[in-house]
Amino acid sequence: MDSIIVRGNGALSGQIPIAGAKNACLTLMPATLLSDEPLTLTNAPRLSDIRTMSELLRSLGAEVASMQDGQVLALSSHRLSGTRAEYDIVRKMRASILVLGPLLAREGHAEVSLPGGCAIGARPVDLHLRALEAMGAEMELKDGYVHAKAPGGLKGGIVEFPFVSVGATENALMAATLARGTTVLKNAAREPEIVDLAQCLRRMGAQIEGEGTSEITIQGVDRLGGATHPVVTDRIELGTYMLAPAICGGEVECLGGRIDLVGAFCEKLDAAGISVEQTNSGLKVSRKNGRVRAVDVTTEPFPGFPTDLQAQMMALLCTAEGTSVLEEKIFENRFMHAPELMRMGASIDVHGGTATVTGVERLKGAPVMATDLRASVSLILAGLAAEGETIVNRVYHLDRGYERVEEKLGNVGAHIERISGQ
Ligand code: EPZ
Repeated sequence: MDSIIVRGNGALSGQIPIAGAKNACLTLMPATLLSDEPLTLTNAPRLSDIRTMSELLRSLGAEVASMQDGQVLALSSHRLSGTRAEYDIVRKMRASILVLGPLLAREGHAEVSLPGGCAIGARPVDLHLRALEAMGAEMELKDGYVHAKAPGGLKGGIVEFPFVSVGATENALMAATLARGTTVLKNAAREPEIVDLAQCLRRMGAQIEGEGTSEITIQGVDRLGGATHPVVTDRIELGTYMLAPAICGGEVECLGGRIDLVGAFCEKLDAAGISVEQTNSGLKVSRKNGRVRAVDVTTEPFPGFPTDLQAQMMALLCTAEGTSVLEEKIFENRFMHAPELMRMGASIDVHGGTATVTGVERLKGAPVMATDLRASVSLILAGLAAEGETIVNRVYHLDRGYERVEEKLGNVGAHIERISGQ
C-alpha cells in the first residue's frame, strides 16, 4: 500500500487545475444504461472510482472506452448482457447502487447487491428503494441483493423524500425519465451534481424541470438518445485545494473554480480571514496577513456547507486563533480524521456529531492513517503546515477521489512525495 510523505512547507504559489467532479461522473456514467445510443463524457476525472464504475458497467454488457488519458469516456449500452450488479464490485464502491434506477427503467428488472456501509456510516439505501416503489417498482431484499421488478414498466408518481439524499434523488431522476407519465420529486437534493445529471439527461432527450431546486418534475418519454456532455467541475476537489494556501500561506489559483459551486464554503473562508477572488480562469485564494481566525461550521445539504469539506476545514481550524465548533449533520461517523490530527498535536474534543477544535500555534508532523477519502486529504493538508515530516498511510483511499495529488500540490511548491508500498 502506498504512503505519501509531506514536509512542512513555506508559502505556496502557482496554479492548480481542478478536474471534473467524481460525484457527478459516478451518476452520469450509469445514465448510459437508459439509452441504446452512445454517451460521451468529457472532462472526466482520472480516479480509481471511475475505473470501478467502468468495470461494473462492463459487467452488465455496456462498452466503456477511456480516451485522452482518461479525460474522455465513450460509453455505449447498445445491448445489455445482464441486470445483475455483483457484490464483489458493489462492495468496492457504494455509488454502484446508481445502476439500479436506470436498469429498472430500461429492462424492467434488476438485481443489485446492497452496497453495505463504509467508514463514515451505515449508508442505507431505503430512500432509493422507496422512491422506485413510488414509481410502481416491486422490491425484494434477498441474499444481500435488491431484487427489483417493474414488469409493465415504471409509471410516474409523487416521490416525497423525508430528508435530502443525493443518491436517492439521482436514482429516482434517472428512472423517471423513462417512466410512463409525470414524476415529481419533493425535497430533492439540490447539489450541482444533480443539476449536471439533469442537463445531461436533457441532452439525451429527457423532459426535466426544476433541477437545483427541491422540487423536480420529470415527464417520462419512450426512449432516450445519445449525447456528449462535459462533467461539471469538482467542487470538493476545488474546496480542498483552496485550503492549501489558506493553511500554508501564499497565493494559489484553482483553475476552473467558480464561486457558485462553493458559496457556503467561501463564506466560512472569508470569516476565517482567507481572501477568495473570482478571476477569468478560476478562484484565486490567498491568506491575508496574520493567523487564521476560528469559525463554527455545520454541514448541510447544498447550498449549505458540504460534509465532504468538513475534514479538510478541520485541518485549517486546528491552527486557527480561537475555538471552532464543527457539527457533522449528514453522516454519523465522520470525525475519524480527528484522532489522527490529534497525533499531530491538534486539540480536538469530539462528542457525537460535534467536534470542538481549540487552535494551536503549529502542528507537528507524525505518521498518520488515512481512514476514508476526505479524511486522508485532510491529513495531507495538515502535514503541509506542520513542523517536520508527516507520513500518511493507506493512501488508496485518496486515489479514489483525487487525481495526481502529489503532482498538483508539488507544482505549487509543496514538499510531497509518494512512496510505493509493497
Ligand atoms: C453522496 O453520497 C456523495 N457520494 C457523498 O460523497 C456525499 O458525502 C453525500 O452525497 C452527501 O453530500 C456520491 O455522490 C458518489 P446521501 P450519498 O444519500 O448519495 C442517509 C465523497 O466523499 N441515507 O445524500 O450516499 C445517509 O446515510 C462521498 O465523495 C439514508 O438514510 O449520500 C446519510 O446519512 C462521501 N437512506 C444521509 O442520508 C438512503 O436511502 C445523506 O446521504 C440514503 C441516504
